Amino acid sequence: MSSILRLAQRATRLLTIGRPQIKKSFTPQIRQFTTTNLLKTGDFEYEDPKSEDEVVNITYVLRDGTERKIRGKVGDNVMFLAHRYDIEMEGACEASLACSTCHVYVDPAFKDKLPEPLEEEDDMLDMAPALKDNSRLGCQIVLSKELDGITVTLPTMTRNFYVDGHVPKPH
Ligand code: FES
Repeated sequence: MSSILRLAQRATRLLTIGRPQIKKSFTPQIRQFTTTNLLKTGDFEYEDPKSEDEVVNITYVLRDGTERKIRGKVGDNVMFLAHRYDIEMEGACEASLACSTCHVYVDPAFKDKLPEPLEEEDDMLDMAPALKDNSRLGCQIVLSKELDGITVTLPTMTRNFYVDGHVPKPH
């Protein structure tokens, strides 16, 4: 080993005396975050059912009380499906569980056919105006054959605390 190299190593050792040791390895912290069926873009909802077996009929009751009967399909997200048909279900956070603007009332006959809400959904619903026992977030409802004939009713108002004024455009 050359003397210059030895001198350099010694200088390095002297410079690091008294300094905190840098860990040579670390365990990365894994943060938990919510991924739901909702990492969708809504494109799927623009596809028509490929067969009658896939069809799931859903009725949206609009804020003025009128009914819109829609032929959805298995796997459709109720909020994105509403966007396809220009039904006024806002969805300000685009299904990332950060708002309650997709709040709907689910036909009580179908309430128990839905999976239990995630904690994050419950948290958002707690902040929704006019909450009821059958309140759910539309972006958390995915159509299945079991839900054929379901009715969801839009509440008379929603609160957009996520981004005021932002109304996502349908694709
Ligand atoms: S669109 Fe924000 S929670 Fe459903």
